[in-house]
Amino acid sequence: MKGIILAGGAGTRLYPLTIVTSKQLLPVYNKPMIYYPLSTLMLARIKEILIISTPEDTPRIKSLLGDGSAFGISLEYAVQEKPEGLAQAFTIGRDFIGDDSCAMILGDNIFYGNGLGAKLAAAKRSAEEGKATIFGYYVEDPHRFGIMEIERVKTDNDSNFRVISVEEKPKEPKSNYAIVGLYFYPKGVSDKADKVKPSARGELEITTLNDMYLKENILNAQLLGRGYTWMDAGTVDSLRKATNFVCMIEQYQGMSISAPEEIAYRYEWIDREKLSESVKRYGKSPYGEHLKAVLEDRIII
Ligand code: DAU
Repeated sequence: MKGIILAGGAGTRLYPLTIVTSKQLLPVYNKPMIYYPLSTLMLARIKEILIISTPEDTPRIKSLLGDGSAFGISLEYAVQEKPEGLAQAFTIGRDFIGDDSCAMILGDNIFYGNGLGAKLAAAKRSAEEGKATIFGYYVEDPHRFGIMEIERVKTDNDSNFRVISVEEKPKEPKSNYAIVGLYFYPKGVSDKADKVKPSARGELEITTLNDMYLKENILNAQLLGRGYTWMDAGTVDSLRKATNFVCMIEQYQGMSISAPEEIAYRYEWIDREKLSESVKRYGKSPYGEHLKAVLEDRIII
């Protein structure tokens, strides 16, 4: 399975913070925002990742993350000339995806929770078997998101839900479950994305793509219930909340979350020598100190 991080957009909701830099490079507590979605795709054990951003920001992101060898993965880059919609990622990424299944995560989406790896593994398996998966998260302000209308299929298992409808930013939302910015699709997603027509607001909507899978009866939904946190850090207020959240978790636990080099090391995608190169690169920063503790086996899970 391939993975895409969509990290473009003008970031105007964060001006003046994003006038000369990319939103996805802004700090969320002690590390750049893009480390979080990168970690999430790595937790899904996806090792071939395409990062799509604007003409200005793509080289900046590339100079931070490089070819992925520090994380034991392969990173490629592509440019989205204009922010014409999330579904465009799959036409831009057509050659990269080839005949594979593909997950996409938005560059400003942060996921945290014990057991996330298992949920992602299930979505990956379904995609490889021909079914798409979207994830739902309870929100108080559903008119701001893509929304899924769902029906419980089994009462003893929170991962079994049938999707009845999906709608982008509905005026009258049919539920409080937002469709978060993480999507798993079977092979052939680029051909489907080609058929997406611009919406009333002129965008190639991911919700239109999801609706195609729904109409073919091959759209799964998983809910991220209590015990999971999802945030999109695209506004001044949500960026502050994300920073506060990560700061609180890391201070209580006394260790970093969403450190891609650590994930790579635990999965044995990099060896000690490679990890020690990163420890040197990050120096005496808290992030560097965390990786040093991992390298010295002081933190073992
Ligand atoms: O965050 C989850 C929500 O993301 C979903 O619930 C919605 O269904 C989905 O449409 C999207 O809504 P947003 O209003 O948050 O989309 P926005 O236009 O802000 O774009 C999300 C991110 O993707 C943002 O970081 C910018 C980036 N982006 C956006 C577009 C339209 C791109 O890189 N390229 C694009 O063409």
